[in-house]
Amino acid sequence: MPDIFADYSEFYDLLYEDKPYPDEARFIADLLNRYADPAGSVRTVLDLACGTGRHCFELEAMGYQVAGSDISAPMIARAQAAAAARASQATFYNHSFQEAAKIGKRFDAVISMFSAIDYLTGHHDLTTALENVSQLLPPGGLFVFDYWNGNAVINNYSPVRELRKRRGNLEVHRTSTTRLDLVEQIAEVNFQFRCLVAGQSEHEFREQHRVRYFFFREIETYLELGGFDLIHRGTFMAEDFSPTSWNIAVVARKRAT
Ligand SMILES: C[S@@+](CC[C@H](N)C(=O)[O-])C[C@H]1O[C@@H](n2cnc3c(N)ncnc32)[C@H](O)[C@@H]1O
Repeated sequence: MPDIFADYSEFYDLLYEDKPYPDEARFIADLLNRYADPAGSVRTVLDLACGTGRHCFELEAMGYQVAGSDISAPMIARAQAAAAARASQATFYNHSFQEAAKIGKRFDAVISMFSAIDYLTGHHDLTTALENVSQLLPPGGLFVFDYWNGNAVINNYSPVRELRKRRGNLEVHRTSTTRLDLVEQIAEVNFQFRCLVAGQSEHEFREQHRVRYFFFREIETYLELGGFDLIHRGTFMAEDFSPTSWNIAVVARKRAT
């Protein structure tokens, strides 16, 4: 499978420097505390599709023992470098969702954030991923994730978006052009990157990300068939629930049998 984050990884943390990872980690920890049985019993957390490990480091700072895994070797290399720089005990693995059980351990909870499950565009990819998540959890273990809500994507997606970031004399300009496939439920996001050093264009590249959006009943059905009970759904980073929010947070519990 080609690594669509290969070039992107170099600029990932710069592009998302304003993403509130500490607040998101608190939101995740609140869900883990609330739904763990007994309450507050989650100690070990695996972050699947962890990217550069930002949620892992925030959760570790809150006292969790953390590990991360991602399909992209360059993203994992960045997570490992960040771990070394901050003397983190986090362990990182280079496994996809579909092969994550190769990690060979169980965790109290598995998380997958920033709508990473949306990259599982095919039915088989998603069911295989859920089988793997299940093998990584004990009965009663929690799976926390967020995803793009079809109700919002169809009505509110932006066909073209621009993002510009600067660090020192490096500037990154990203143009995202999105097209929806309403039959396959896929948003095809075409990124065009332009990197400038001291105002001079140095490097340009393109990446295409195909991400799936889901409707509520689909998530419920996939979890049900994968041996999970859906125990919470809400607007990501909010207390309330709106059926038209873009990002939906889910907590699922692995069934005992
Ligand atoms: C939007 S990023 C989110 C990264 C991280 N969770 C965060 O919040 O910053 C999506 C991540 O999913 C990873 N990814 C895509 N497909 C994957 C797969 N099949 N298995 C594991 N990781 C995957 C990408 O390499 C990328 O790091």
